Amino acid sequence: MQMIVVPGSASLSLARSLADTLDVPLADVENRRFPDGECYVRLLSSLDGEDAIVVNRAYPDEKIVETLLLQDAVREAGAKRITTVLSYMGYSRQDKLFNPGEAISARAMARMFSLYSDAVVTVDIHDRGILRWFDVPVEDVSGMPALAEKLETMGVEIVLSPDKGALHRARTVGEMLAVPWDHLEKTRLDGEHVVIKPKDLNVKGKIVAIVDDMISTGGTVVTAAGQLRDQGARRIIAACTHGLFVGNALERVRRACDAVISTDTIENPTTSVTVAREIAGVL
Ligand code: R5P
Repeated sequence: MQMIVVPGSASLSLARSLADTLDVPLADVENRRFPDGECYVRLLSSLDGEDAIVVNRAYPDEKIVETLLLQDAVREAGAKRITTVLSYMGYSRQDKLFNPGEAISARAMARMFSLYSDAVVTVDIHDRGILRWFDVPVEDVSGMPALAEKLETMGVEIVLSPDKGALHRARTVGEMLAVPWDHLEKTRLDGEHVVIKPKDLNVKGKIVAIVDDMISTGGTVVTAAGQLRDQGARRIIAACTHGLFVGNALERVRRACDAVISTDTIENPTTSVTVAREIAGVL
């Protein structure tokens, strides 16, 4: 079975890198909107009997719909097997009931994306517990090794995660760079605000990297950077897999940190590494 990469409109560059890494063709896809805003997709390449790798991010909502339509078009075009690569899985932070009456959004998304897939690949999913809700085999790969390679060229001396739950990310990067790693003590107050308790981290005069799965409003990394500045850090680098940067977040993060880097799961001005190699590794 010949493999072919089918790009979603939000992940063209990642899809191209993936096709190059795998040395397989990239499908031609027409993508436009109807006057009422509804999405239209059409495959212009032949997929008969192929092993199709659909690559798109599941964010914002319109890209979720586009991904579903792509899955349907790929099946209709005769693909033998469909693997859906969700470069960024939206709704993953609502992964439990915080209040009665809510939806477990991450579960709803996982079930829906499983409907038209034989397998799914996610990248640094917010919590690996979400993986159990996919009804097909799923692999989660990490953007941390790719970020670590870039951070190595930036002279990082200590790697921190904003909270204990994300310590495994700091550990992955810290071990690759052979530098110390630790975590801050974050408590979330609401969607935009967090408090980070002071913790003596021995960052004085050092180049520090804060690593996280995503930067959304920037509240977490800006608050963390403030703490580290107060403790005398020389240079602060924010590194994340998914750079959402909602509203003026990028501006705020750039003001608070000396450098900002992210991967191509969500293409944005700070994208400086690709996760194509990690995805290719599990296909
Ligand atoms: C939270 O648990 C995540 O790992 C990130 O720290 C968080 O989602 C970042 O969001 P924001 O940039 O809005 O603080």
